[in-house]
Amino acid sequence: MKVLRTAAEMRALRDELRGQPLTVGLVPTMGYLHQGHDSLLAAARAECDVVVMSLFVNPTQFRPGEDLSTYPRDEERDFAIAEATGVDYVYAPQPDDVYPSGFATKVEVEGLTEVLCGSETSRGPGHFRGVTTIVAKLLNAVDPDFAYFGQKDAQQATVIRRMAEDLEFRAKIVVLPTVREPDGLAMSSRNAYLSPQARERATAIWASLQETEAVFAEAGLEPALEAGRRHLELAGITPEYFEARYPGTLDPADGRSGDPILVAVAAKVDGTRLIDNILLEPEHEGSTP
Ligand code: PAJ
Repeated sequence: MKVLRTAAEMRALRDELRGQPLTVGLVPTMGYLHQGHDSLLAAARAECDVVVMSLFVNPTQFRPGEDLSTYPRDEERDFAIAEATGVDYVYAPQPDDVYPSGFATKVEVEGLTEVLCGSETSRGPGHFRGVTTIVAKLLNAVDPDFAYFGQKDAQQATVIRRMAEDLEFRAKIVVLPTVREPDGLAMSSRNAYLSPQARERATAIWASLQETEAVFAEAGLEPALEAGRRHLELAGITPEYFEARYPGTLDPADGRSGDPILVAVAAKVDGTRLIDNILLEPEHEGSTP
């Protein structure tokens, strides 16, 4: 496995790969890898001839006061995990190389980025502007055939799909299921912040989504959301949002259309911001044998 530290090295690799009949897979990450990241790397390894993982804690997607300076980092461990899963190249550039002085361009996806995590009471639309700008740059720098993302960040996946379609990126965007701890907590680099007590309480997030799913099947959407919110409240967690939206448009869902519904939650547990989601599949009348 080779580590590329500069945009110039990445350009040289891209030019080399362009001349060959090889498929390239890109897995963008901010490092501190866990099994969620590893599932993306393994899928890329299985589907592509060449696997590139980017490792870059992107400063522009953090708001002032968020955890940019304390974001967990362990490059050596990340390299070992990537190598064990068969990554060919790690692209780990420095911020000054990615955003040199004079950098003035932002990629913005309207609408989709103004709700849920993008609302002013959450991380704000600037968060996704940071994400789409860096992902657009990575797609240009690596020029992959496939780029892999996790359903754990469902809104991010929707926004990136929209951007890739609108800007006609060549890469196929692949979104893979959320990998969870045995007790259901979605794996996240930020779980490292949790004290043992907070870690225990955080299990209420996935439990609340499962509760929502169970009630949805029996009683419909509104009671299901109420049950999920109540479950969190009983665990002493006040969500930033706990909302039902249609996954492609992120429009509010009323459950009447029979389309799948994304229920997404963000909540701070003892100061650590965690997100999770579930896809509810309405039963179509007459679909049961
Ligand atoms: P990061 O949080 O490191 O996540 C990298 C990728 O791993 C994302 O596509 C994310 O959705 C996926 N992922 C995280 N936890 C997962 C889990 N439990 N199961 C499955 N996939 C999971 O997301 C980012 O970095 C950044 O915003 C990035 C896209 C790299 C742009 O900076």
